[in-house]
Amino acid sequence: MGYIGIQLTAMKNQESKIVIEHLIKIYGEKPQVALKLFREGGTRDSILKETGNVLGIADVSFTINQGELFVVMGLSGSGKSTLVRCLNRLINPTSGHIFIDGEDVAHVDEKRMREIRLTKVSMVFQKFGLLPHKTVGENVEYGLKVKGIDKGKRRQKALEALKGVGLAQWVDYLPSSLSGGMQQRVGLARALATDADILLMDEAFSALDPLIRGEMQDELLRLQKELHKTIVFISHDIQEALKIGDRIAIMKDGAIVQIGTPEEIITQPADDYIRGFTKDVNRAQVLTIGSIVRQTKHVILGEYSPSLALEKMSEQVLEYMCVVDTDGKPVGMVNKQSLESAIEQEKENISQVMQTDFPIVRSDTNLEDTFPLYQQGIPMAVVDGEGKFQGLIEMGNILASISNSQN
Ligand SMILES: Nc1ncnc2c1ncn2[C@@H]1O[C@H](COP(=O)(O)OP(=O)(O)OP(=O)(O)O)[C@@H](O)[C@H]1O
Ligand SMILES: [Mg+2]
Repeated sequence: MGYIGIQLTAMKNQESKIVIEHLIKIYGEKPQVALKLFREGGTRDSILKETGNVLGIADVSFTINQGELFVVMGLSGSGKSTLVRCLNRLINPTSGHIFIDGEDVAHVDEKRMREIRLTKVSMVFQKFGLLPHKTVGENVEYGLKVKGIDKGKRRQKALEALKGVGLAQWVDYLPSSLSGGMQQRVGLARALATDADILLMDEAFSALDPLIRGEMQDELLRLQKELHKTIVFISHDIQEALKIGDRIAIMKDGAIVQIGTPEEIITQPADDYIRGFTKDVNRAQVLTIGSIVRQTKHVILGEYSPSLALEKMSEQVLEYMCVVDTDGKPVGMVNKQSLESAIEQEKENISQVMQTDFPIVRSDTNLEDTFPLYQQGIPMAVVDGEGKFQGLIEMGNILASISNSQN
């Protein structure tokens, strides 16, 4: 097979929501014949040639975690829609398992599947999928009506969902009086109104012009912060994927080539196919300082004399060394010169010679946003969310990782 091993990501402290195991989808008249050929090592091309069947999904296994915004990317025809439509069984898989909250939806009957679609898994379509002769409100209520929820409650839910996407005042208008971006918001509101905790979004923003599309991405991220849904978002746009995805799966010929965080995809692309996607990406906007900082030596205030500090200093190449307090928070910066002069002047405590004016940056800061913090001639101290020291970084390292295109 021409694809690289699938990365099964059983992350700690994270509850898996959707577990996909050996999923295979074959389109055509003789799926079992084609399946046998595939299991014997047949490729997409050879199977197509021999049977006329299309290998849509080629044995895919991975896990999506509760609350994750998971993006599926890939070129046209790579199997993205097939994959996501298997999740709510708009397409029946040929083989394999799809566990949602532990229940194998690949093998439940149609009645149970309808229930799951109404209560657990909602879909937002590219072309909005709104009913043109029904009002915005009626469109949003639609799923609830099918579910048998009474009129008053339906309306209330619909209004809540419309309010969430900023369209409550449009409840009695027809979709045709709304712009494309607004219609897509209605589509989103309809999916949210059902209270389903999984949202499937197939190229949901692709039909929108770039500005509106950016706004919708922000809107989705904002909603997601409040709602913590599990979202499977299909996109063929790497910028969009990197912007909104907690993790991204990149597909090719029905298989998954790589799954990773935006940073992993950029800094450790699995092969040239992935590299092809990421080569024009603005790395400064995607990479965080935490992903490039290396651990550097530091000394603890009160525990190191200037001469001991100087000794430790000689173990590293950086010109500066960070001084941290007993909580591990950076409080100063020393260099060879300042330590030598402290020894010369017989100063016992490095606090007397350390520089206290230096930039501190949190590890989750984008590289681009570190530029304004830069101070000539002194590295930045990188800290974690609690303010604890992680390492020093120089502007030269930052610039190198932005321009690094061999990766
Ligand atoms: N109903 C079908 N019958 C036969 N082949 C199909 C069918 N639907 C999809 N395919 C084939 O399966 C493969 C994957 O299609 P799919 O629609 O999942 O791709 P995609 O990644 O969503 O592409 P796009 O970015 O164009 O939407 C393609 O080769 C396609 O031709
Ligand atoms: Mg598609």
